[in-house]
Amino acid sequence: MRLEGKVAIITGAANGIGFAAAETFAKEGATVALADYQADLGESKAQLLRDKGYNVNFYQVNVADRKSIDEMAKAVEEDFGTIDILVNNAGITRDGMLAKLTPADFQAVIDVNLTGVFHCTQAVLPIMLAKGKGKIISTSSVSGVNGNVGQTNYAAAKAGVIGMTKTWAKELGRKGINVNAVAPGFIETAMTAAVPDKVIGQMKMMVPLGKLGKPEDIANAYLFLASSEADYVNGVVLHVDGGIMM
Ligand code: CAA
Ligand code: NAI
Repeated sequence: MRLEGKVAIITGAANGIGFAAAETFAKEGATVALADYQADLGESKAQLLRDKGYNVNFYQVNVADRKSIDEMAKAVEEDFGTIDILVNNAGITRDGMLAKLTPADFQAVIDVNLTGVFHCTQAVLPIMLAKGKGKIISTSSVSGVNGNVGQTNYAAAKAGVIGMTKTWAKELGRKGINVNAVAPGFIETAMTAAVPDKVIGQMKMMVPLGKLGKPEDIANAYLFLASSEADYVNGVVLHVDGGIMM
């Protein structure tokens, strides 16, 4: 039980990587707040975990909306007493080549994937500072490290997540808070299911392991960074991508 007694918030937990992380954390003894935009899906996923005997609640949030995030952090503290771990996992794509990318699609991705990480982290910070302990894990991407055709907005946001992670690792390390990022490669979720088959084929060719990853591959990386095994890990970007970035 690597997260026994810990309270974790996971954003984007109704689906894909976030849900896999919620189950992985719960299995390891954590109490989990599943925070997501999609209420019906999130409630049903939380019920699925409760049916397995895990202690979880669902909170409907929009990470791009500060008020919604402040209310969620307050509710989690009231419901579970504290917050030990934040996983900033919620994310969206609005892909388009630069020439066609609309300002609205640029901004939407920045609002969720970058500003959302800022809102959630700032909202839980007072609780972690008061405890003198905490783990913050944010989700970047191979696209944020290397760029990706059709992803001006997404690559900018995910590169920004790395910049914030390193800044916060420096600001908060002495306060007992570890701040790290995970940079997944291409993982089998609804997000990659929307990618044209031709592009998926090109993606696979980029991966030395020769296949896409599973949500659990990223959940396990979050778990490591959330656990006490990573107490001396701070400011890293952990690449979990089958070897694309090396
Ligand atoms: N490399 C180089 N050139 C490329 C390319 C690539 N990977 N993909 C497309 N192009 C070229 C095309 O050959 C085409 O060239 P010509 O104009 O000379 O014919 C031009 O770019 C336009 O391509 P499309 O016809 O595909 O343009 P479109 O407007 O119909 O679609 C797109 C553009 C929406 C970006 C579409 O190509 C697409 O969805 N691509 C996938 C983008 C992608 O990889 N998204 C990752 C999603 S998963 C994720 O985001 C998770 C994560 O963190 C990695
Ligand atoms: P997904 O689309 O399966 O799940 C994302 C979840 O985030 C959904 O449940 C969605 O409702 C939620 N969400 C979206 N906008 C939200 C908002 N404004 N507020 C609250 N919740 C919101 O996606 P996936 O693949 O599980 O992605 C998880 C994270 O991993 C994202 O940050 C993504 O950018 C990142 N990532 C994914 C990769 C992949 O190949 N699937 C690769 C690299 C990074």
